[in-house]
Amino acid sequence: MTDETIIRRAVADDAAALAALAERTFIDAFGARNRPEDLALHCAASYGEAIQRGEILDDALATFVAEGSGGFSGYLQLAWGTPPPDIVSARPVEIRRFYVDAPWHGRGLAQALMATAVEFAATRDADLLWLGVWEENPRGIAFYRKCGFAVVGSHVFLVGSDPQRDLLMTRSRVGAGASDGPSW
Ligand SMILES: CC(C)(COP(=O)(O)OP(=O)(O)OC[C@H]1O[C@@H](n2cnc3c(N)ncnc32)[C@H](O)[C@@H]1OP(=O)(O)O)[C@@H](O)C(=O)NCCC(=O)NCCS
Repeated sequence: MTDETIIRRAVADDAAALAALAERTFIDAFGARNRPEDLALHCAASYGEAIQRGEILDDALATFVAEGSGGFSGYLQLAWGTPPPDIVSARPVEIRRFYVDAPWHGRGLAQALMATAVEFAATRDADLLWLGVWEENPRGIAFYRKCGFAVVGSHVFLVGSDPQRDLLMTRSRVGAGASDGPSW
């Protein structure tokens, strides 16, 4: 992460650029290991200026972008809602999306985004962060473990028509001191 990169809450005017980043980073990460027709279905349902604008304006979501001189380099989205049964918590917050553009992998931006997620969740009085990560995403799993998440179960995530197994991971350390743990 460089000094000029900032992480901020997304606004409606970010929708088009965010949609482009979101689709590109999903395809970069998972395109090679999914059928083109499943990928196309997933992208059509998930990405587009109107879709991302709706998400940015949705009170049940909080979307953050990392922005530098070259534009957006990553984003994350938190979601409030009913979690799967394996997630046991009074006030859970889901990390629904968490993506860093490939040139920024391994450079600390992901840690900065995670600190933002933890800090924002704490301001909303969350007692647990949870997420689903594809079982065939070893880098993502390793990153989340580094950030203090542990596997508590699994659920099915549909990519197009392909039912994939996502590991469910949680981290209960939310709140004061959240950003001075061993990972960042
Ligand atoms: C997941 C993601 C945000 C992590 O950010 P990052 O900058 O790559 O994270 P880091 O480099 O700090 O950490 C990744 C860890 O995985 C390790 N790793 C890399 N490739 C790996 C692999 N094939 N198998 C296992 N571990 C791997 C790295 O060595 C590193 O661990 P270390 O710091 O102990 O060496 C980023 O890789 C990304 O955006 N990936 C594509 C999208 C994605 O998968 N998002 C998550 C969806 S749930």
